[in-house]
Amino acid sequence: MGALNRDVKVLVIGAGAMGSGIAHVAALAGHAVYLYDMNAEAVARGKAGIEKDLRFLVGKGKLAEAECVATLARVRPVTALADAGDAGLAIEAIVERLDVKQKLFLELEALLGEDAILASNTSSLSITAMAAPLARPERLVGLHFFNPAPRMKLVEIVSGLATDKALAESLHATAKAWGKVPVHARSTPGFIVNRVARPYYAEAQRVLAEGAAAPATLDAILRDGCGFPMGPFELMDLIGHDVNYAVTNSVFDAYFGDKRFTPSLIQQELVQAGRLGRKSGRGFYDYREGASRPQADDEATRSAAGTVTVVGDLGVAAGLIGRFEAAGIKVQREAGKGAGHIEVGEARLALSDGRTATRRADEEALANLVLFDLAADYASTPRLAVALADQCGSGAAQLAIGTLQKAGLAVSRIDDVAGMVALRTVAMLANEAADGVLQGIGSARDIDTAMRYGTNYPKGPLAWADELGIRRVATVLANLREHYGEERYRVSPLIQRKAITGATFHE
Ligand code: NAI
Repeated sequence: MGALNRDVKVLVIGAGAMGSGIAHVAALAGHAVYLYDMNAEAVARGKAGIEKDLRFLVGKGKLAEAECVATLARVRPVTALADAGDAGLAIEAIVERLDVKQKLFLELEALLGEDAILASNTSSLSITAMAAPLARPERLVGLHFFNPAPRMKLVEIVSGLATDKALAESLHATAKAWGKVPVHARSTPGFIVNRVARPYYAEAQRVLAEGAAAPATLDAILRDGCGFPMGPFELMDLIGHDVNYAVTNSVFDAYFGDKRFTPSLIQQELVQAGRLGRKSGRGFYDYREGASRPQADDEATRSAAGTVTVVGDLGVAAGLIGRFEAAGIKVQREAGKGAGHIEVGEARLALSDGRTATRRADEEALANLVLFDLAADYASTPRLAVALADQCGSGAAQLAIGTLQKAGLAVSRIDDVAGMVALRTVAMLANEAADGVLQGIGSARDIDTAMRYGTNYPKGPLAWADELGIRRVATVLANLREHYGEERYRVSPLIQRKAITGATFHE
């Protein structure tokens, strides 16, 4: 079954933020679209919103005037569902309540033709449960668009227990024909994106709770150092803490209280205080008139070493070598076993392995250990976080920091938390993604695609794990597990298995 023919009429129910965006997408792709809402004003507002968005595209030269007019003409507001009886695809984007959606689908099943496809844009409800009351539950598929639907590329095609495979394939092909990036997902709490993304918020709040650094510094480490489009705190402020906290709680509850998804007390308190983020004027940051935005804490400029010694293979961090050389720092090389490191004067600089610097310094009998965090690309990252072992002398640490600064890096010193910030975040994202693969929620390729297009992550978490080396990821997670003794950091069985042979997730 290929993509739906352009002459199939689409019925969109619910003309709010998502419904009007979905109507926009389907109409632009050439379908006649019926737009219905129980509130007639919402339909008028929805259509006006579509017109505004299309006019914006015309203004930017991205859409021809004639196409804009034709697209708008294809969106037909209806005041009763019965006026849309010849629709071949019905997509609901109404209130997020199972009972209300079930009732709507029963109505649609009675109204529409035998071959009509029923689709739900739900972001959290079970497609299996939603389809259960229907005479033909195989006709219902999840079609999860992201907000704003016209701009966000990802669509999760969600199959419930009864969903017809051919139908899910057809919607996959249809979404592609509409210019989207579709992925298949099995109906499980949070589907792919809302589940795999949880550690992005959770790990940041965890290290904040442990006093690793201020939100502005942690945001900068993940945004500037790791290439995420927004840091976790500014992103939560944008999403709204009520919404983000509710999603975390719903995933946590739906997985029967799995510790992996434990909500944060810090966020709970923000919700309790009514500090919901941008929309209420305060969240992690202050958005009120006249408030100033805190900057990331950078280490003051220190003096640099003239020579460094790279011992062994730095792996993903090898890009630092060229930066030292370009800054006029002489780089000597020495053979070495295991993960490589850099000797700077009396200090040793090394990528974190999930242990605290203090514990690693103790276990390896190192006097002056300075750990650095993960970066998306060490050859070009503008920022790097470091953590000092408690045993580390300040002179040795300052020379290591100054040498990184001379290589063009803004250095953020964080407290000595296990796995630092970016490394533990990426390792936990990969851990969640790996469990998603193991549990058949999506393929490795689809999960990575979903995270790149649904959240704009710079890399898919599994591709990132491949790049880092699956054994290193397994070590980081095992060290976090041991450090905290918490179930939350258990290592995905698939990561454990791949670490034995060093296998990758992608070819
Ligand atoms: P919204 O509140 O902007 O719009 C919902 C619309 O549905 C309203 O205009 C309301 O009048 C109408 N409605 C409610 N019950 C109805 C019924 N029984 N029959 C007909 N119309 C009805 O909500 P939004 O944000 O557009 O969300 C809609 C759905 O999309 C929800 O299931 C939500 O979980 C899902 N979703 C939301 C995303 C978001 O970021 N807002 C992202 C992805 C999915």
